[in-house]
Amino acid sequence: MAYNDRFIRACLKKEVERLPVWYMRQAGRYDPEYRKIKEKYSLLEICRQPELAAEITLMPVHKLGVDAAILYSDIMNPVASLGIDFDIVKNIGPVINNPIRSKSDIERLKPIDVEKDLSHILETISILDKELEVPLITFAGAPFTIASYLIEGRPSKSYIRTKSLMYGEPELWDQLMGKLGDMVITYLRYHVQSGGKAFQIFDSWVGALAPKDFERFVLPTITRIFAELEDLDVPKIYFPGVSSGELLPTLTGIKADVIGLDWRVSIEEGRRRTGGKYAVQGNLDPYVLTAPISVIKEHAKDIIDQGVKEPGYVFNLGHGLFPEAPIEKLIELTEFVHQYSEEAIKR
Ligand code: CP3
Repeated sequence: MAYNDRFIRACLKKEVERLPVWYMRQAGRYDPEYRKIKEKYSLLEICRQPELAAEITLMPVHKLGVDAAILYSDIMNPVASLGIDFDIVKNIGPVINNPIRSKSDIERLKPIDVEKDLSHILETISILDKELEVPLITFAGAPFTIASYLIEGRPSKSYIRTKSLMYGEPELWDQLMGKLGDMVITYLRYHVQSGGKAFQIFDSWVGALAPKDFERFVLPTITRIFAELEDLDVPKIYFPGVSSGELLPTLTGIKADVIGLDWRVSIEEGRRRTGGKYAVQGNLDPYVLTAPISVIKEHAKDIIDQGVKEPGYVFNLGHGLFPEAPIEKLIELTEFVHQYSEEAIKR
């Protein structure tokens, strides 16, 4: 089979004959085969076995027929190299055993050493580079989103400790953003050198901030990350996570190619708010997948009709797949996006 580069072309605003599709969190618990592997190994144990991690990355590509693979890993993996002791706990998420709360905690963070501490991730990428017939997306968590875990110590709804440090000790906050920014830059550069064909920066929780605070406390680091990685010849995606619609107009200066949208802002509005500069990706509400397939298709149609109006659109969800997502509906949705968008592009 010929290499399918539809996803790359769409990211770069080039013409495509049908829309590319992939799903955030496409490797995961909705798949019984994955759940079986998880009975034996934890996420972190799987990541330490490159052959197995590569196999799990490939599963949704074959089962769902998507146009891109996303590396099986987690946004927390690289922080181990900074000296953070964490675990991914079932039904909770990342839990940090030594949360960051003080100046000395931040000063203690080591620079990332990818070759020493994360060679298993690079090996997984190299294996996939040889096996895949679609592009491999690698990823990193963005500094705010990673900081929220490091500071709170576990998933949070209010981000009270994170905001307390950010508003109360802005110099310390900037120091932390600087260190996490360095981590992301170094880590992603290694990914591309090992065979990654695109990367996405997940800022899943930054929608918790007001636009002016985002501009003061987060955007300078995001801008620096994309500027320092500009020389890498791969599409670069920034996903500002859930409830980020109000932040979109602040993003017009970053050197990314694609902006991920959640479902609260339409594709057209997302394009408008980002000044038409970027390709856009998204944004079906993942929970629409609980509805009958006819309803799912109606929602997808509306998104596709907007998406195909200009080059530069990648079909995806507005956030990650959930464990109960029905695999048959995902397969049917993928086929539908391909077939319907091909007709829509011809029109
Ligand atoms: O997308 C993929 O299929 C690739 C793998 C991937 C995982 N995590 C594996 C994983 C990716 C891209 C991530 C990113 C990630 N991790 C994000 C950003 C995306 C988003 O949803 O906003 C965030 C915030 C995390 C942190 C994290 N990891 C949480 C909050 C949780 C627990 C909550 C949950 O959804 O289960 C995890 C655990 C995790 N990471 C799982 C998987 C498949 C589920 C548990 C497991 O199978 O061990």
